[in-house]
Amino acid sequence: MKILSIETSCDETAVSVIDATGSFETGDFSMTVLGNSLLSQMALHAEFGGVFPGLAKREHQKNLVPVLTDALTQAGMFGSSDSEVENTDALSDTLAKEGVLLEQTLAFLSKTAKPEIDAIAVTYGPGLEPALWVGIVFAKALALAWGIPIIPVNHMEGHIMVSLLQKTAQSRYSIAAILFPAVSLLVSGGHTEIVVSQEWMRYEVVGQTRDDALGEAFDKVARLMQLPYPGGPEISRLAEIARIEELPPAYKQTRPMIHSKDLDFSFSGLKSSIRRLIESQPTWSDTEKQQLAREFEDTVTDTVVSKVREALTTYGAQTLVVGGGVSANKHLRLSLESAAHDMDVAIYLPTAANATDNALMIALAGYFRVQAGSHGQPEAIVAHGTLALS
Ligand code: KG4
Ligand code: ZN
Repeated sequence: MKILSIETSCDETAVSVIDATGSFETGDFSMTVLGNSLLSQMALHAEFGGVFPGLAKREHQKNLVPVLTDALTQAGMFGSSDSEVENTDALSDTLAKEGVLLEQTLAFLSKTAKPEIDAIAVTYGPGLEPALWVGIVFAKALALAWGIPIIPVNHMEGHIMVSLLQKTAQSRYSIAAILFPAVSLLVSGGHTEIVVSQEWMRYEVVGQTRDDALGEAFDKVARLMQLPYPGGPEISRLAEIARIEELPPAYKQTRPMIHSKDLDFSFSGLKSSIRRLIESQPTWSDTEKQQLAREFEDTVTDTVVSKVREALTTYGAQTLVVGGGVSANKHLRLSLESAAHDMDVAIYLPTAANATDNALMIALAGYFRVQAGSHGQPEAIVAHGTLALS
């Protein structure tokens, strides 16, 4: 089955095309990536020190047709056509919600032959609603014009599934035959969650942040330290220098929530403590910044690892899955690997490219959702900014 996927939940405009067969249960799943295209708006949002929803929406509107064209071209599915677009009235109604998309999309459809796609998967949440809407409306228009079904996908399920991919050949993947119960740690710019699965595609959120997400904490602390956005990779780079150069530990911070009796997180107190620390010292040398970055990274890693250990024990888990942008963090990855090894639990981490937002994860989750029988009624698909996993 060939699936085209669309992801616009935050600041990446992404489209991919996969050809997948088999199922998780029978262990014969296999997938070929035919096309995978992504345009990041990171540089634009850097100016604001975070993602600005109105700007994200405008950029998605501008970028979707070029990104789709690129993905279809990679897949060898981009062909020209001069046939009339059918359903123009219904299409115009669908697209009217997103004015700017209207002309561009109709122009694209009028000169593009229908590709051999069986279904369109689109992220409907969680994320920034104005950004989500652009992808949803675009997906609805394509589904209508091409007469194929549309599958709404939960972005977080995509983050979990993409971490389970195993490369078998160039552009070909299988999925890990994980054992249950499984615990998933999802850490991104918008989310910090611990999720338990007793079986494939069943989720229970058992812990989450009460304030800032982990990626947000990295980004905010980086901003306080006057480092460029997004701050996660930058803090990680400085912390790494402190470790390699064996700088003495300094600026000791309390590990937030480490003794709370639940699986929740809170990072805003740590951020405030670091703000006070930064303001208490008029200048910061490069070495001091490296020491501070290391202390921040060590602090959040200690908390996250401790909560994950607790979750693995509480639920008798046999598998740990890690996903989301912050799972690109090297120190966190190594610490989680060592904890999982210690506890005799199998761990699955995403590749660097699959850690941050992309459309491949949406195609993958879309395929498994189709298999589970969940076709969406186009009218019923709406953006859901705070969509939870369940
Ligand atoms: O999953 P993602 O691409 O987008 C959201 O859905 O939020 O995650 C982006 C977040 C940003 O906050 C970024 O700073 C963080 O992931 N991030 C990292 C690293 N790479 C990306 N945080 C810490 N260390 C990294 N190496
Ligand atoms: Zn994400």
